[in-house]
Amino acid sequence: MAQLWGGRFTKKTEDAVFAFNESLSFDKRLFYKDIEGSIAHVVMLEKQKIITLEEKDAIVKGLTTIQHEVDEGRLEFTSEYEDVHSFIEAKLIDMIGDAGKKMHTGRSRNDQVALDMRMYTRDEVAAVDELLYSLLKVIYRIMDENIETYMPGFTHLQKAQPVTVAHHFGAYFEMFKRDRSRMHDIYSRMNFSPLGAGALAGTTYPLDREYVASMLGFEGATLNSMDSVSDRDYIIEFLAALSTIMMHLSRFSEEIIIWNSNEYRFIEIDDAYSTGSSIMPQKKNPDIAELVRGKTGRVYGALMSILTTMKGIPLAYNKDMQEDKEVTFDAIDTVKDCICLFTGMLDTIKFNNDIMARSAMNGFTNATDAADYLVKKGVPFRDAHGIIGRLVLKCIDKNCSIEDLTIEEMKEISDVFEADIYDAITLKACVEKRLTKGAPGAAGMKETLKIYKKYLEDEINK
Ligand code: ARG
Repeated sequence: MAQLWGGRFTKKTEDAVFAFNESLSFDKRLFYKDIEGSIAHVVMLEKQKIITLEEKDAIVKGLTTIQHEVDEGRLEFTSEYEDVHSFIEAKLIDMIGDAGKKMHTGRSRNDQVALDMRMYTRDEVAAVDELLYSLLKVIYRIMDENIETYMPGFTHLQKAQPVTVAHHFGAYFEMFKRDRSRMHDIYSRMNFSPLGAGALAGTTYPLDREYVASMLGFEGATLNSMDSVSDRDYIIEFLAALSTIMMHLSRFSEEIIIWNSNEYRFIEIDDAYSTGSSIMPQKKNPDIAELVRGKTGRVYGALMSILTTMKGIPLAYNKDMQEDKEVTFDAIDTVKDCICLFTGMLDTIKFNNDIMARSAMNGFTNATDAADYLVKKGVPFRDAHGIIGRLVLKCIDKNCSIEDLTIEEMKEISDVFEADIYDAITLKACVEKRLTKGAPGAAGMKETLKIYKKYLEDEINK
């Protein structure tokens, strides 16, 4: 047990208490951020003449050496240290002696951990954003190649109207684009440095907080020291946004699973992204999509966990907040893995265009267009709806599609039908006539794709 405190204690900490209290086993992830933050802190302390140039140099050199030793595996995170902050400070003091004892001047572990966690999370927000960008590039490619690949669009998982693969995938392009913009929002809102908040009430040393903030790439320093050490909103926002990404990935996975099933066969997941069964030789299972769908639960769990942890904590720092780390780390790892794997799976999917088109032709997906045809001939929409309903009933009876009926059979229901009905309800016509902004028609889709291309090429979005 190597602790930073102990002066006012008369008894040794119980082993079980130490083990329960420690966080090094998981906050070692913050090691690089802690070193970076400490270097910025001591550079500022020297600038403000709170420590000497020699002391600053010795501390910076010591911290850099510790980092190298950890990198090279010569220094390990052993269990006698309470947390990553204690570990680094103890190693520094061992290495450089008295100067090391000055590193923590004007700082508390409360603002230190708040800084580390913010810097770590900030990087991860950017990393998730980048992965989403790669996913969007794959979705864009699939859209661009499938402007005229017809498929049924569904409501209630019942065939509704024909759409295209480009259109269906475009819906996900929009979702992940919004997910990216959430990353940007979170980043800019959280990008303020809490260092200098001290334990809760600032410090009596003449710290230059703005200087530290700008050295560490922050927009500025936070404005309230109590909030600075107690705020975990940015983690909650991030987890909420990660949960939304998982919700999107999970819906997409669900569709991939359905489309890949024997009943649909719209797509085929590549062998490299499928798994087999130990007993049924014929099986090729969509495990990746299922796992992405399944892992959504643990990311939502992380969000609920932190919301609940934070809800009853009086200001300012309380040890409860140490619980922010494990679930957040796990959620970040999970989401990054899920986006990566999902992107690879999507990139290698094969579309069975014929099966999709055939499916779009069956199931009366052109019934709305048949009604619209009558409307164009002067029939009020509600009447047209009734006529086509009766026409569909006739088709069900004869086990055929609307376009399989002869014009005479159609005229038995309404004499408004003419020979041009057949051209009006082809799959192509049903899709191409949908010209409004956001609809699947090729002309509109090409315009949308231009916007997406520009979005992907735009430097600020990269
Ligand atoms: N390991 C602690 C955490 O993660 C660091 C801060 C400790 N502060 C304290 N006052 N005990 O929250």
